Amino acid sequence: MSDTQFKAWRVEEQDGDYKGTEQTLDIKDLPEGEVLIRVSHSSLNYKDALSASGNKGVTRSFPHTPGIDAAGEVIESATGTPAVGSQVIVTGYDLGMNTDGGFGEYIRVPSAWCVPMPRGWDAETAMTYGTAGLTAGLCVQKLLTMGARPEQGKVAVSGASGSVGSVAVELLSKLGFDVVAISGKADHADSLRELGAREVVGRDALAEEKKPMLKPVFANAVDTVGGSPLAELLKQIKPGGSVSCCGLVAGPQLQTTVLPFILRGVNLLGVDSVEIPLDEKEAVWKKFAGDWKCDKAEASVRRIGRADLGDALQAFLKGQSAGKIILEHSR
Ligand SMILES: NC(=O)c1ccc[n+]([C@@H]2O[C@H](COP(=O)([O-])OP(=O)(O)OC[C@H]3O[C@@H](n4cnc5c(N)ncnc54)[C@H](OP(=O)(O)O)[C@@H]3O)[C@@H](O)[C@H]2O)c1
Repeated sequence: MSDTQFKAWRVEEQDGDYKGTEQTLDIKDLPEGEVLIRVSHSSLNYKDALSASGNKGVTRSFPHTPGIDAAGEVIESATGTPAVGSQVIVTGYDLGMNTDGGFGEYIRVPSAWCVPMPRGWDAETAMTYGTAGLTAGLCVQKLLTMGARPEQGKVAVSGASGSVGSVAVELLSKLGFDVVAISGKADHADSLRELGAREVVGRDALAEEKKPMLKPVFANAVDTVGGSPLAELLKQIKPGGSVSCCGLVAGPQLQTTVLPFILRGVNLLGVDSVEIPLDEKEAVWKKFAGDWKCDKAEASVRRIGRADLGDALQAFLKGQSAGKIILEHSR
């Protein structure tokens, strides 16, 4: 390999089928951008599985290198910020969608996408959180900004065993909240309690009910599933409480009445981790590197190399993925 060549897990289209393989690319083939980064770690997300399987809503044209998360060292910097030699985190914006992403050993991106690595942190630690952890942090931050406090009562987390949900459970519990984990996986109840959930209940807690309002049970909530479970959750929020909403695994439709909003003053808070200003991302990363450190999330990751990406992404599409997976390019 020449000095400018690198390895990437590249997806190609062949007669309507999409296949990822390890390929050798050249730095000069990367998209235009101000900052060249040598990526040491990435992390796997459902969106990467969509990109790798040809979902045109995520990635329009192939060949393409997925990977919406990346962390590593700045090798070239046209603007001087971030500085050459510094470590950075890049998540969201167009990375891994229509801009070659973190499943390659190098990326080239605008400087406005680069979060400086928090002091005392490294690329591997950052990727144990990845977009999922960042999203959980943003959900919790929105609740706190709305005035959520532990003494107000129970906080529900739906999709609790998922990548976003599990970090939300651990973080809220660490912040002193009485967390009720709502999960469809009975065999994950013990691990959710280990993360700090005070109670673990099944998805039937959010089963569809005809009544427009239900007994208020939760002071606040983080919802990662959307659809009818979110509509049911809104009916069970105490007066003045808030629900951070970030996901749609149970469906993108939200059929509700205005009653939770006008009778109980419930707040529905939208959370986007992709396009928000960089300083909002940086604030949450700094918290995870400080008071918000989630020891269990950091300890429970699975590390894979590029050769394992195909199987790991398939597991996401089949709904069989469990726990956080990070990609180590040195493997
Ligand atoms: N807004 C943003 O910027 C942003 C960023 C990252 C992710 N997201 C979205 O957030 C959601 C969660 O992401 P994730 O990475 O945590 O996904 P994940 O790891 O696949 O977890 C989702 C969890 O939801 C639950 N679930 C799955 N299917 C369900 C269904 N039909 N009904 C109810 N619950 C169901 C499962 O948990 P249990 O078995 O424990 O119930 C599953 O583990 C996704 O929709 C994702 O696209 C949004």
